[in-house]
This record gives sequence, structure tokens and C-alpha cells, in this order.
Amino acid sequence: MALERTLSIVKPDAVAANATGRILAMFEEAGLRPIAIRTVRLTTEQAQAFYAVHTARPFFGDLVKFMTSGPVCVSVLEGENAIVRNREVMGPTDSKKAAAGTVRGRFGTDIEKNAVHGSDAPETAAVEVGFFFSGAELASLAR
Ligand code: CMP
Repeated sequence: MALERTLSIVKPDAVAANATGRILAMFEEAGLRPIAIRTVRLTTEQAQAFYAVHTARPFFGDLVKFMTSGPVCVSVLEGENAIVRNREVMGPTDSKKAAAGTVRGRFGTDIEKNAVHGSDAPETAAVEVGFFFSGAELASLAR
């Protein structure tokens, strides 16, 4: 297993529910360490750019509207196998299909209001971390 970094976003629904701390605690309990954290309000242009891979999907407009509807909390999670581990803790994209013990099962509502985003692969993780954080902001305790 490798020490990895992944980008996590606590989405507007979960920030509004004041669940940010509880969600970060679930990541910590799973061995993921938040090494950089910031709460931001995304602009439409930022949300469109972040989700550019989904531009042609029918849900793109609604996704951008939702992601700009309130503040989000972006963080970089570091740990062994962090990308897959984070996805296990989050549960499946559709909150309705997520087990009760997962973040989406606990805090999500449906496929759109699903509480969190997490990078899906090492390549996207590198791009997504760089979208929000500079190298100087990443305070790894492992090196
Ligand atoms: P996320 O992991 O942030 O990546 C893209 C997001 O699009 C996804 O979570 C969902 O919240 C959202 N989305 C909305 N509708 C759909 C859909 N039909 N299929 C996949 N993702 C969707």
C-alpha cells in the first residue's frame, strides 16, 4: 500500500447541516489525516471548471447550481491507500444506496445532495488537490 493524498469536499448540504466536523471525524477514524482544510464559496466558473469532466452530462447544470448554493469545506486527506479508503468511507454516489455507516448513508439525501465528493483515481486526485491547494499549504506529517 502507498501513502496517498486525495481531495475531499464536504458539499453545501452537509456544511449547512453543520456536519463538517462529524464527517472529518469519520475520515480521521478511518486513518485519513486532513493535512489542509479550507471553507470556500465556489463561484459558478470554479464549479464548472472543477467538474469539467461532467460538462456533457444531463445533470451538469444542476450539479453546478447545487455546488454553488452555499459554502463547501475542501480538504486534502492523507493516508495509506487514501483514495480507495476515502471512497469506502463515503459510500456510493447515490446516498439512497449507501449503507448507514457511511458518510453518505448518514448525511446524504440522494444522488445530488450526497454530502461529500472524493477523488476517484490517483490522476484526478493530483489535479483536484492542485485545484484548491498549493504545495506550501500541504503540511504532511509523514515526511
Ligand atoms: P461527485 O462525487 O461530486 O461527482 C459528480 C457528482 O455529480 C456526483 O458526486 C453527484 O453528486 C452528481 N450527480 C448528480 N446526478 C448524477 C447522476 N445521475 N449520476 C452521477 N452523478 C450525479
